[in-house]
Amino acid sequence: MANAGNGLLAGKNGVIFGALNENSIAWSIAEAVHREGGRFALSNAPIAKRLGTVDALASRTDSPVLWADATNDDELAELFESAKKTFGGIDFVVHSIGMGMNVRKDRDYEDLNYEWYHTTLDISAVSLHRVIHHAVESGALNDGASIVTLSYIGAQRTFSKYSEMGDAKALLESIVRSFGYRLGRRGIRVNAISQSPTRTTAGSGITGFDAMFDFADRIAPLGNADAESCADYTVTLLSDLTRMVTMQTLFHDGGFSTMGISDDLIHALKDVLGT
Ligand SMILES: NC(=O)c1ccc[n+]([C@@H]2O[C@H](COP(=O)([O-])OP(=O)(O)OC[C@H]3O[C@@H](n4cnc5c(N)ncnc54)[C@H](O)[C@@H]3O)[C@@H](O)[C@H]2O)c1
Repeated sequence: MANAGNGLLAGKNGVIFGALNENSIAWSIAEAVHREGGRFALSNAPIAKRLGTVDALASRTDSPVLWADATNDDELAELFESAKKTFGGIDFVVHSIGMGMNVRKDRDYEDLNYEWYHTTLDISAVSLHRVIHHAVESGALNDGASIVTLSYIGAQRTFSKYSEMGDAKALLESIVRSFGYRLGRRGIRVNAISQSPTRTTAGSGITGFDAMFDFADRIAPLGNADAESCADYTVTLLSDLTRMVTMQTLFHDGGFSTMGISDDLIHALKDVLGT
């Protein structure tokens, strides 16, 4: 739903991690934050200079790009020093980073390459800890700030092909609670949005993604939530309207997480099974 914006984030400054290309959830979030009057630096891993189109988003939203590998402490420390110089202080952080090494290379859960598994956890979960740590340590993070990360229901339920990423998201959601508790005394909030399957580079790296997408879409009463609606929801969490919400995993999934089975799926299964 395109609109002219309501100035919900006017006067707020932040850092948005994870916009790679137009399909990225973080790309839509950056556009929605821009629409609502927020200012931000974009960040991604240096390798994304070659693989993505971050500079185009930066010029569209008049934002600096601060390159940093989210598994590298020195690069994150430098990033938050520069964000502090640019903005004075920051009021929000969006962490939209994920990568499943074994998933990507089609390695079964029973036979994980542990070096890759470690990298998966580091990129997809521990990076949130590092980001928050450096945002606080640098003195860049203002009291009352809001931090949002992106998760998936595979953190809490088993989705066979989601494999190691379920473990990574479980850790991510735990870090949300652990840091949310510790930052609460400064009025700083930390939440995860558990988003529907969404067609992005990370999403399509999962074998069986189309089946997961279709299954969720047939079950969710509202259908799957797309990246644009996720961006609108994120805006509310970055705004002061949700200032008493913290330590939550908030489902943004068209109702999927509360459903069992739907008529649509029953009919589809009947066709397949001939029952
Ligand atoms: N696509 C989906 O179906 C879906 C559903 C629920 C949650 N999510 C989550 O949303 C988030 C964003 O993913 P997306 O679907 O927009 O895909 P995406 O591929 O567009 O975004 C993933 C981002 O992570 C970045 N990244 C990877 N390694 C990094 C590193 N070492 N340092 C810094 N950045 C790094 C990539 O460059 C990319 O920009 C991820 O956490 C993902 O797990 C996605």
